Amino acid sequence: MPELDSTAKRLFPFEILTGLRRESPVRYDGARGCWDVFAYEDVHRVLKDSRIFSSTRGPAAGQNMLYMDPPKHTQLRELVNKAFTPKAIQDLAPRIQSIAEDLLDQAAGERMDVVSHFATPLPVIVIAELLGAPAEDRTRFKSWSDILVESAEDLSEEAFVKINEKRMQAIQELSEYFVKILELRAQHPQNDLITALMSAEIDGEKLSGRDIINFCILLLAAGNETTTNLITNGVRILTEQPSLQDELHANPDLIPRFVEEVLRYYPPIVAIGRIATQDVEIGSQKIRAGDQIIAWVGAANRDEAKFAKEPDRFDLQRSPNPHMSFGFGIHFCLGAPLARLEGKIALEVLLRRLHEMKLTSEQDLIPIQSSFVFGVKNYPISFQRR
Ligand code: HEM
Repeated sequence: MPELDSTAKRLFPFEILTGLRRESPVRYDGARGCWDVFAYEDVHRVLKDSRIFSSTRGPAAGQNMLYMDPPKHTQLRELVNKAFTPKAIQDLAPRIQSIAEDLLDQAAGERMDVVSHFATPLPVIVIAELLGAPAEDRTRFKSWSDILVESAEDLSEEAFVKINEKRMQAIQELSEYFVKILELRAQHPQNDLITALMSAEIDGEKLSGRDIINFCILLLAAGNETTTNLITNGVRILTEQPSLQDELHANPDLIPRFVEEVLRYYPPIVAIGRIATQDVEIGSQKIRAGDQIIAWVGAANRDEAKFAKEPDRFDLQRSPNPHMSFGFGIHFCLGAPLARLEGKIALEVLLRRLHEMKLTSEQDLIPIQSSFVFGVKNYPISFQRR
Protein backbone atom coordinates (compact mmCIF):
# COMPACT_ATOMS: atom_id res chain seq x y z
CA MET A 1 0.00 0.00 0.00
CA PRO A 2 1.31 3.43 -0.94
CA GLU A 3 1.32 4.80 2.61
CA LEU A 4 3.69 2.03 3.77
CA ASP A 5 6.42 2.71 1.24
CA SER A 6 9.53 3.05 3.40
CA THR A 7 11.51 0.81 5.75
CA ALA A 8 10.72 3.01 8.75
CA LYS A 9 6.98 2.88 8.02
CA ARG A 10 6.99 -0.88 7.52
CA LEU A 11 8.74 -1.30 10.85
CA PHE A 12 6.03 0.74 12.61
CA PRO A 13 2.91 0.74 10.36
CA PHE A 14 0.34 1.06 13.13
CA GLU A 15 0.29 4.83 13.51
CA ILE A 16 -0.33 5.12 9.78
CA LEU A 17 -3.07 2.49 9.88
CA THR A 18 -4.75 4.31 12.78
CA GLY A 19 -4.54 7.58 10.83
CA LEU A 20 -6.15 5.96 7.79
CA ARG A 21 -8.90 4.43 9.92
CA ARG A 22 -9.75 7.81 11.41
CA GLU A 23 -9.67 9.65 8.08
CA SER A 24 -11.51 7.16 5.88
CA PRO A 25 -12.51 3.88 7.52
CA VAL A 26 -13.54 2.48 4.11
CA ARG A 27 -11.77 3.74 0.99
CA TYR A 28 -10.99 2.73 -2.57
CA ASP A 29 -7.32 2.70 -3.58
CA GLY A 30 -7.17 3.10 -7.35
CA ALA A 31 -3.46 2.27 -7.57
CA ARG A 32 -3.98 -1.19 -6.08
CA GLY A 33 -7.51 -1.59 -7.41
CA CYS A 34 -9.03 -2.60 -4.09
CA TRP A 35 -11.04 -1.42 -1.10
CA ASP A 36 -9.37 -0.97 2.27
CA VAL A 37 -11.47 -1.51 5.39
CA PHE A 38 -9.96 -0.38 8.70
CA ALA A 39 -12.57 -0.17 11.48
CA TYR A 40 -13.10 -3.09 13.86
CA GLU A 41 -16.80 -3.42 13.20
CA ASP A 42 -16.36 -3.45 9.40
CA VAL A 43 -13.40 -5.87 9.41
CA HIS A 44 -15.42 -8.16 11.66
CA ARG A 45 -18.37 -8.03 9.26
CA VAL A 46 -16.22 -8.76 6.19
CA LEU A 47 -14.65 -11.80 7.87
CA LYS A 48 -17.92 -13.01 9.37
CA ASP A 49 -20.13 -12.92 6.27
CA SER A 50 -18.53 -15.45 3.95
CA ARG A 51 -21.62 -15.40 1.70
CA ILE A 52 -21.09 -11.78 0.66
CA PHE A 53 -17.32 -11.70 1.14
CA SER A 54 -15.81 -14.68 -0.64
CA SER A 55 -12.39 -16.26 -0.15
CA THR A 56 -12.12 -17.79 -3.61
CA ARG A 57 -9.20 -16.80 -5.85
CA GLY A 58 -7.75 -17.76 -9.18
CA PRO A 59 -6.14 -21.15 -9.80
CA ALA A 60 -2.65 -19.78 -8.98
CA ALA A 61 -3.69 -19.59 -5.33
CA GLY A 62 -3.70 -23.36 -5.09
CA GLN A 63 -6.66 -25.53 -4.27
CA ASN A 64 -6.69 -25.21 -0.52
CA MET A 65 -9.36 -24.44 2.06
CA LEU A 66 -8.10 -20.92 2.69
CA TYR A 67 -9.35 -20.00 -0.78
CA MET A 68 -12.62 -21.93 -0.70
CA ASP A 69 -16.19 -21.04 0.24
CA PRO A 70 -18.88 -23.35 1.64
CA PRO A 71 -19.95 -26.06 0.98
CA LYS A 72 -16.51 -27.34 -0.17
CA HIS A 73 -14.74 -25.43 2.63
CA THR A 74 -17.05 -26.85 5.31
CA GLN A 75 -16.55 -30.39 4.12
CA LEU A 76 -12.75 -30.15 4.00
CA ARG A 77 -12.44 -28.29 7.27
CA GLU A 78 -14.59 -30.81 9.14
CA LEU A 79 -12.52 -33.71 7.87
CA VAL A 80 -9.25 -32.02 8.69
CA ASN A 81 -10.54 -31.10 12.17
CA LYS A 82 -10.80 -34.82 12.89
CA ALA A 83 -7.03 -35.17 12.55
CA PHE A 84 -5.88 -31.73 13.70
CA THR A 85 -7.41 -32.04 17.17
CA PRO A 86 -6.63 -30.02 20.33
CA LYS A 87 -5.31 -33.24 21.90
CA ALA A 88 -2.98 -33.93 18.96
CA ILE A 89 -1.63 -30.39 19.38
CA GLN A 90 -1.33 -30.51 23.17
CA ASP A 91 0.62 -33.79 22.88
CA LEU A 92 3.32 -31.86 21.02
CA ALA A 93 4.15 -29.69 24.05
CA PRO A 94 7.11 -31.71 25.41
CA ARG A 95 8.61 -32.01 21.94
CA ILE A 96 8.23 -28.26 21.24
CA GLN A 97 9.88 -27.55 24.57
CA SER A 98 12.86 -29.76 23.84
CA ILE A 99 13.32 -28.25 20.35
CA ALA A 100 13.27 -24.74 21.89
CA GLU A 101 15.80 -25.73 24.58
CA ASP A 102 18.11 -27.30 21.95
CA LEU A 103 17.98 -24.22 19.74
CA LEU A 104 18.96 -22.05 22.67
CA ASP A 105 21.79 -24.42 23.60
CA GLN A 106 23.12 -24.11 20.07
CA ALA A 107 23.15 -20.31 20.15
CA ALA A 108 26.61 -19.97 21.68
CA GLY A 109 27.75 -16.88 23.59
CA GLU A 110 25.57 -13.96 24.55
CA ARG A 111 24.25 -12.76 21.22
CA MET A 112 21.97 -14.21 18.58
CA ASP A 113 19.71 -13.27 15.73
CA VAL A 114 16.34 -14.30 17.16
CA VAL A 115 14.87 -14.84 13.68
CA SER A 116 17.45 -17.16 12.17
CA HIS A 117 18.62 -18.97 15.33
CA PHE A 118 15.37 -19.48 17.13
CA ALA A 119 12.07 -18.22 15.72
CA THR A 120 12.53 -19.66 12.21
CA PRO A 121 13.74 -23.20 12.92
CA LEU A 122 11.25 -23.85 15.74
CA PRO A 123 7.99 -23.91 13.72
CA VAL A 124 9.70 -25.51 10.69
CA ILE A 125 10.91 -28.44 12.81
CA VAL A 126 7.53 -28.76 14.56
CA ILE A 127 5.58 -28.89 11.28
CA ALA A 128 8.07 -31.22 9.62
CA GLU A 129 7.75 -33.60 12.60
CA LEU A 130 3.98 -33.22 12.73
CA LEU A 131 3.83 -34.27 9.09
CA GLY A 132 6.22 -37.12 9.73
CA ALA A 133 8.95 -35.83 7.39
CA PRO A 134 12.44 -37.08 8.21
CA ALA A 135 14.84 -34.64 9.90
CA GLU A 136 17.22 -34.56 6.93
CA ASP A 137 14.52 -32.93 4.78
CA ARG A 138 14.15 -29.86 6.98
CA THR A 139 16.34 -27.53 4.94
CA ARG A 140 14.34 -28.35 1.83
CA PHE A 141 11.13 -27.78 3.80
CA LYS A 142 12.33 -24.41 4.89
CA SER A 143 13.21 -23.24 1.39
CA TRP A 144 9.91 -24.53 -0.03
CA SER A 145 7.89 -22.78 2.64
CA ASP A 146 9.86 -19.54 2.09
CA ILE A 147 8.96 -19.59 -1.58
CA LEU A 148 5.28 -20.21 -0.77
CA VAL A 149 5.02 -16.97 1.21
CA GLU A 150 7.49 -14.85 -0.77
CA SER A 151 5.91 -11.76 -2.33
CA ALA A 152 6.70 -10.14 -5.68
CA GLU A 153 9.65 -7.73 -5.72
CA ASP A 154 7.51 -4.92 -7.12
CA LEU A 155 4.07 -4.38 -8.62
CA SER A 156 5.11 -5.09 -12.23
CA GLU A 157 3.44 -7.83 -14.26
CA GLU A 158 6.89 -9.37 -14.77
CA ALA A 159 7.54 -9.64 -11.05
CA PHE A 160 4.17 -11.35 -10.54
CA VAL A 161 4.80 -13.83 -13.35
CA LYS A 162 8.23 -14.61 -11.93
CA ILE A 163 7.01 -15.19 -8.39
CA ASN A 164 4.10 -17.29 -9.63
CA GLU A 165 6.39 -19.53 -11.64
CA LYS A 166 8.63 -20.00 -8.60
CA ARG A 167 5.62 -20.80 -6.44
CA MET A 168 4.21 -23.30 -8.94
CA GLN A 169 7.60 -25.00 -9.10
CA ALA A 170 7.76 -25.29 -5.28
CA ILE A 171 4.19 -26.62 -5.16
CA GLN A 172 5.08 -29.19 -7.82
CA GLU A 173 8.16 -30.35 -5.88
CA LEU A 174 6.27 -30.47 -2.61
CA SER A 175 3.46 -32.46 -4.22
CA GLU A 176 5.91 -35.06 -5.51
CA TYR A 177 7.50 -35.20 -2.08
CA PHE A 178 4.18 -35.75 -0.30
CA VAL A 179 2.99 -38.32 -2.84
CA LYS A 180 5.92 -40.48 -1.70
CA ILE A 181 5.14 -39.96 1.98
CA LEU A 182 1.49 -40.88 1.35
CA GLU A 183 2.53 -44.09 -0.40
CA LEU A 184 4.77 -45.00 2.53
CA ARG A 185 1.98 -44.32 5.06
CA ALA A 186 -0.50 -46.38 3.05
CA GLN A 187 1.84 -49.37 3.42
CA HIS A 188 2.94 -48.62 6.99
CA PRO A 189 0.54 -46.39 8.95
CA GLN A 190 2.24 -44.30 11.64
CA ASN A 191 1.11 -42.30 14.61
CA ASP A 192 1.31 -39.02 12.69
CA LEU A 193 -0.87 -36.35 11.11
CA ILE A 194 -0.69 -37.72 7.55
CA THR A 195 -1.88 -41.14 8.67
CA ALA A 196 -4.69 -39.48 10.68
CA LEU A 197 -5.69 -37.42 7.62
CA MET A 198 -5.76 -40.55 5.48
CA SER A 199 -8.14 -42.30 7.86
CA ALA A 200 -10.40 -39.31 8.72
CA GLU A 201 -13.94 -40.06 7.58
CA ILE A 202 -17.35 -38.35 7.76
CA ASP A 203 -20.45 -40.18 6.44
CA GLY A 204 -18.27 -42.45 4.33
CA GLU A 205 -16.46 -39.44 2.78
CA LYS A 206 -12.68 -39.36 3.04
CA LEU A 207 -10.05 -36.87 1.96
CA SER A 208 -8.53 -37.60 -1.43
CA GLY A 209 -4.76 -37.88 -1.81
CA ARG A 210 -4.84 -34.54 -3.60
CA ASP A 211 -6.78 -32.89 -0.71
CA ILE A 212 -4.22 -34.19 1.79
CA ILE A 213 -1.27 -32.94 -0.23
CA ASN A 214 -2.85 -29.51 -0.71
CA PHE A 215 -3.52 -29.36 2.99
CA CYS A 216 0.09 -30.25 3.89
CA ILE A 217 1.32 -27.52 1.56
CA LEU A 218 -1.11 -25.07 3.15
CA LEU A 219 0.25 -25.90 6.61
CA LEU A 220 3.75 -24.95 5.48
CA ALA A 221 2.54 -21.73 3.88
CA ALA A 222 0.20 -20.71 6.70
CA GLY A 223 2.05 -21.97 9.73
CA ASN A 224 5.75 -21.25 9.45
CA GLU A 225 6.41 -17.60 8.79
CA THR A 226 3.41 -16.52 10.87
CA THR A 227 4.64 -18.37 13.95
CA THR A 228 8.21 -17.14 13.39
CA ASN A 229 6.82 -13.61 13.41
CA LEU A 230 4.75 -14.20 16.53
CA ILE A 231 7.86 -15.31 18.44
CA THR A 232 10.06 -12.53 17.05
CA ASN A 233 7.39 -9.87 17.61
CA GLY A 234 7.15 -11.13 21.21
CA VAL A 235 10.90 -10.70 21.71
CA ARG A 236 10.63 -7.28 20.08
CA ILE A 237 8.14 -6.14 22.74
CA LEU A 238 10.34 -7.60 25.48
CA THR A 239 13.26 -5.47 24.29
CA GLU A 240 11.12 -2.37 23.68
CA GLN A 241 9.60 -2.63 27.15
CA PRO A 242 12.34 -4.38 29.16
CA SER A 243 10.51 -4.31 32.51
CA LEU A 244 8.24 -7.00 31.02
CA GLN A 245 11.18 -9.42 31.05
CA ASP A 246 11.43 -9.41 34.86
CA GLU A 247 7.69 -9.27 35.33
CA LEU A 248 7.13 -12.36 33.17
CA HIS A 249 10.10 -14.18 34.61
CA ALA A 250 8.58 -13.72 38.05
CA ASN A 251 5.06 -14.60 36.81
CA PRO A 252 5.32 -17.14 33.97
CA ASP A 253 1.58 -17.79 34.33
CA LEU A 254 1.08 -14.44 32.56
CA ILE A 255 2.83 -15.64 29.40
CA PRO A 256 -0.36 -16.85 27.61
CA ARG A 257 -1.85 -13.38 28.18
CA PHE A 258 1.36 -11.82 26.96
CA VAL A 259 1.12 -13.91 23.76
CA GLU A 260 -2.47 -12.69 23.18
CA GLU A 261 -1.43 -9.08 23.61
CA VAL A 262 1.54 -9.57 21.22
CA LEU A 263 -0.94 -10.97 18.68
CA ARG A 264 -3.15 -7.89 19.07
CA TYR A 265 -0.39 -5.28 19.22
CA TYR A 266 2.02 -6.69 16.62
CA PRO A 267 -0.10 -9.13 14.54
CA PRO A 268 1.87 -11.42 12.20
CA ILE A 269 -0.92 -11.02 9.61
CA VAL A 270 -2.13 -7.42 9.36
CA ALA A 271 -4.50 -7.74 6.40
CA ILE A 272 -6.86 -10.38 4.95
CA GLY A 273 -8.32 -10.34 1.42
CA ARG A 274 -11.88 -11.08 0.23
CA ILE A 275 -13.95 -10.59 -2.94
CA ALA A 276 -17.51 -9.16 -2.87
CA THR A 277 -20.01 -11.62 -4.37
CA GLN A 278 -22.73 -8.95 -4.73
CA ASP A 279 -23.13 -5.19 -4.54
CA VAL A 280 -22.86 -4.21 -0.90
CA GLU A 281 -22.46 -1.12 1.28
CA ILE A 282 -19.79 -0.81 3.95
CA GLY A 283 -19.77 2.43 5.89
CA SER A 284 -21.49 4.56 3.27
CA GLN A 285 -19.34 3.27 0.43
CA LYS A 286 -20.87 1.30 -2.40
CA ILE A 287 -18.85 -1.78 -3.24
CA ARG A 288 -19.61 -3.70 -6.41
CA ALA A 289 -19.81 -7.44 -6.98
CA GLY A 290 -16.33 -8.66 -7.97
CA ASP A 291 -14.43 -5.90 -6.10
CA GLN A 292 -11.50 -6.87 -3.95
CA ILE A 293 -11.58 -5.94 -0.27
CA ILE A 294 -8.66 -5.84 2.14
CA ALA A 295 -9.71 -6.16 5.79
CA TRP A 296 -7.04 -4.51 7.96
CA VAL A 297 -6.85 -6.57 11.13
CA GLY A 298 -3.79 -4.53 12.14
CA ALA A 299 -5.98 -1.39 12.23
CA ALA A 300 -9.05 -3.08 13.75
CA ASN A 301 -6.96 -4.43 16.65
CA ARG A 302 -6.28 -0.85 17.75
CA ASP A 303 -9.73 0.60 17.20
CA GLU A 304 -10.78 2.53 20.32
CA ALA A 305 -14.43 1.78 19.50
CA LYS A 306 -13.65 -1.83 20.51
CA PHE A 307 -10.59 -1.51 22.74
CA ALA A 308 -11.73 1.41 24.87
CA LYS A 309 -8.73 1.24 27.19
CA GLU A 310 -5.66 2.75 25.49
CA PRO A 311 -5.54 0.63 22.33
CA ASP A 312 -2.04 1.87 21.47
CA ARG A 313 -0.59 0.72 24.77
CA PHE A 314 0.82 -2.79 25.21
CA ASP A 315 -1.20 -3.95 28.21
CA LEU A 316 -0.31 -7.25 29.83
CA GLN A 317 -3.52 -7.07 31.89
CA ARG A 318 -5.81 -6.57 28.88
CA SER A 319 -8.90 -8.72 29.30
CA PRO A 320 -10.95 -9.48 27.33
CA ASN A 321 -8.74 -9.22 24.26
CA PRO A 322 -10.93 -9.83 21.21
CA HIS A 323 -8.19 -9.24 18.61
CA MET A 324 -8.77 -10.70 15.15
CA SER A 325 -5.18 -11.73 14.45
CA PHE A 326 -6.27 -15.30 13.72
CA GLY A 327 -9.12 -14.05 11.56
CA PHE A 328 -12.78 -14.61 12.41
CA GLY A 329 -15.62 -16.89 11.29
CA ILE A 330 -15.37 -20.01 9.15
CA HIS A 331 -11.71 -19.46 8.17
CA PHE A 332 -10.58 -18.76 11.74
CA CYS A 333 -7.01 -20.01 11.88
CA LEU A 334 -6.99 -23.79 12.14
CA GLY A 335 -3.45 -23.63 13.57
CA ALA A 336 -4.28 -21.11 16.34
CA PRO A 337 -3.92 -23.68 19.17
CA LEU A 338 -0.55 -24.78 17.77
CA ALA A 339 0.66 -21.20 17.22
CA ARG A 340 -0.39 -20.23 20.77
CA LEU A 341 1.36 -23.28 22.20
CA GLU A 342 4.57 -22.65 20.25
CA GLY A 343 4.51 -18.95 21.16
CA LYS A 344 3.98 -19.71 24.82
CA ILE A 345 6.68 -22.38 25.05
CA ALA A 346 9.22 -20.39 22.99
CA LEU A 347 8.81 -17.31 25.18
CA GLU A 348 8.77 -19.35 28.41
CA VAL A 349 12.11 -20.93 27.48
CA LEU A 350 13.65 -17.58 26.51
CA LEU A 351 12.43 -15.82 29.67
CA ARG A 352 13.49 -18.64 31.96
CA ARG A 353 17.02 -18.89 30.55
CA LEU A 354 17.87 -15.36 29.41
CA HIS A 355 17.62 -11.89 30.86
CA GLU A 356 18.63 -8.40 29.85
CA MET A 357 17.65 -9.14 26.26
CA LYS A 358 18.45 -6.04 24.19
CA LEU A 359 18.23 -5.20 20.52
CA THR A 360 21.79 -4.58 19.34
CA SER A 361 21.31 -2.49 16.20
CA GLU A 362 17.98 -0.96 15.37
CA GLN A 363 19.19 0.75 12.17
CA ASP A 364 19.87 -2.59 10.49
CA LEU A 365 16.39 -4.09 10.92
CA ILE A 366 14.83 -5.28 7.67
CA PRO A 367 11.02 -5.43 7.50
CA ILE A 368 9.38 -8.29 5.59
CA GLN A 369 8.34 -6.98 2.16
CA SER A 370 4.66 -7.80 2.19
CA SER A 371 1.62 -5.65 2.87
CA PHE A 372 -0.12 -8.59 4.53
CA VAL A 373 2.61 -9.69 6.91
CA PHE A 374 4.07 -7.75 9.81
CA GLY A 375 7.51 -8.87 10.91
CA VAL A 376 11.23 -8.44 10.51
CA LYS A 377 13.77 -10.59 8.69
CA ASN A 378 16.35 -10.19 11.46
CA TYR A 379 16.30 -9.31 15.15
CA PRO A 380 19.81 -9.28 16.62
CA ILE A 381 19.89 -9.30 20.42
CA SER A 382 22.42 -9.48 23.23
CA PHE A 383 21.51 -11.08 26.56
CA GLN A 384 22.76 -12.54 29.79
CA ARG A 385 22.20 -16.20 30.60
CA ARG A 386 20.60 -16.97 33.94
C1 HEM B 1 -6.03 -19.40 8.56
C2 HEM B 1 -3.23 -16.31 11.06
C3 HEM B 1 -0.43 -20.00 12.50
C4 HEM B 1 -2.91 -22.96 9.61
C5 HEM B 1 -5.54 -18.25 9.15
C6 HEM B 1 -6.15 -16.94 9.06
C7 HEM B 1 -5.34 -16.09 9.76
C8 HEM B 1 -4.23 -16.84 10.29
C9 HEM B 1 -5.54 -14.59 9.93
C10 HEM B 1 -7.47 -16.61 8.37
C11 HEM B 1 -7.26 -16.21 6.93
C12 HEM B 1 -8.55 -15.84 6.24
O1 HEM B 1 -9.58 -15.64 6.88
O2 HEM B 1 -8.52 -15.73 4.99
C13 HEM B 1 -2.24 -17.06 11.67
C14 HEM B 1 -1.27 -16.52 12.61
C15 HEM B 1 -0.48 -17.56 13.02
C16 HEM B 1 -0.96 -18.75 12.34
C17 HEM B 1 -1.19 -15.05 13.03
C18 HEM B 1 0.67 -17.56 13.98
C19 HEM B 1 0.78 -16.74 14.97
C20 HEM B 1 -0.87 -21.12 11.87
C21 HEM B 1 -0.33 -22.44 12.05
C22 HEM B 1 -1.00 -23.27 11.20
C23 HEM B 1 -1.99 -22.48 10.52
C24 HEM B 1 0.79 -22.81 13.01
C25 HEM B 1 -0.86 -24.75 10.98
C26 HEM B 1 0.14 -25.47 11.26
C27 HEM B 1 -3.95 -22.24 9.08
C28 HEM B 1 -4.92 -22.81 8.15
C29 HEM B 1 -5.80 -21.78 7.85
C30 HEM B 1 -5.37 -20.60 8.59
C31 HEM B 1 -4.94 -24.25 7.64
C32 HEM B 1 -7.01 -21.86 6.89
C33 HEM B 1 -8.26 -22.17 7.66
C34 HEM B 1 -9.49 -22.14 6.80
O3 HEM B 1 -9.46 -21.65 5.67
O4 HEM B 1 -10.52 -22.67 7.27
N1 HEM B 1 -4.38 -18.16 9.92
N2 HEM B 1 -2.02 -18.39 11.53
N3 HEM B 1 -1.89 -21.18 10.96
N4 HEM B 1 -4.26 -20.93 9.32
FE1 HEM B 1 -3.21 -19.68 10.51
